[in-house]
Amino acid sequence: MNAAGVLGMSPSILKRIYDSGAGAVVTKSLGPKPRKGHPNPTFVRVEAGGLNAMGLPNPGAEYFVDEIKELKNMGVPVIASFFGGSVQEFAEVAYTLSRAGADALELNASCPNVAEELGMLAADANNVEKVTAAVKDQTKLPVFVKLSPSVTNIKIIAKAAEWGGADAITAVNTVKAIAIDVNMRRPILANVTGGLSGPAIKPIALRCVWDVVQAVNIPVIGCGGITTGEDAVEFILAGATALEVGTAVMTHGIGVYKDINDRIASYMTENGFKEIKEMVGLAQE
Ligand SMILES: Cc1cc2nc3c(=O)[nH]c(=O)nc-3n(C[C@H](O)[C@H](O)[C@H](O)COP(=O)(O)O)c2cc1C
Repeated sequence: MNAAGVLGMSPSILKRIYDSGAGAVVTKSLGPKPRKGHPNPTFVRVEAGGLNAMGLPNPGAEYFVDEIKELKNMGVPVIASFFGGSVQEFAEVAYTLSRAGADALELNASCPNVAEELGMLAADANNVEKVTAAVKDQTKLPVFVKLSPSVTNIKIIAKAAEWGGADAITAVNTVKAIAIDVNMRRPILANVTGGLSGPAIKPIALRCVWDVVQAVNIPVIGCGGITTGEDAVEFILAGATALEVGTAVMTHGIGVYKDINDRIASYMTENGFKEIKEMVGLAQE
């Protein structure tokens, strides 16, 4: 799958991602109402990755209902990513997106700057459980809960999501970071801090997947810095059963999905694996 938000969200782009080899597409995170996001600059390239502080700009879940229907009519499996500012809002947005015909929901429990009532949702196990349970009350769809790596113990947060009824965990979102312009002597992003993504965070994301796999009995979706087929195999060996690729599509183009699929296939042939599931978690045994 593509990782939420990286390439925007128009149905035509998501359809191209699907045609390029992704098994399903993930929308940008949708909220209860339209949101402008943060002022520019919101993105800067840094060593081995990117730093973004988009601030979740989105047209609102209601507006995106038709786009989801359009994608479904084109035969594309759609995972709708979403967020809210309160337990109630999370539940309402989940309900709207289920009615739109999404195949699954990805609950973005990892954005630091949107959940007013919930404070730092990403780091609060009780709130993660509460929000997940409220969402599961509103939908029959599978719910993936996407976690932040910037927490003390990701195992506790993952377990809380599982207790709340999560059907899978997506690990992980970006890592909080800063870039400074030495000539301006100021932070480059208008928001000061942003989320680091790309190869720079791969070892962190891999460790998070490793930990979460040990903590829960539901599938884990690996995300963070995956660029090559080898990266993908590493995440599978750590225990991920599906993957999301974001920043690599900005650096390597849309062909990255096919390249990764092809390399996983050739790795399997070279090493005598017939099915992905034979490889899942092998490094943990
Ligand atoms: C420009 C940009 C926008 C993003 N928007 C979202 C978003 O709307 N929702 C979300 O859950 N994650 C969002 N992310 C995080 C990615 O989905 C992903 O978790 C992260 O970038 C790590 O994966 P990667 O290294 O493959 O990019 C965004 C990342 C970037 C770079």
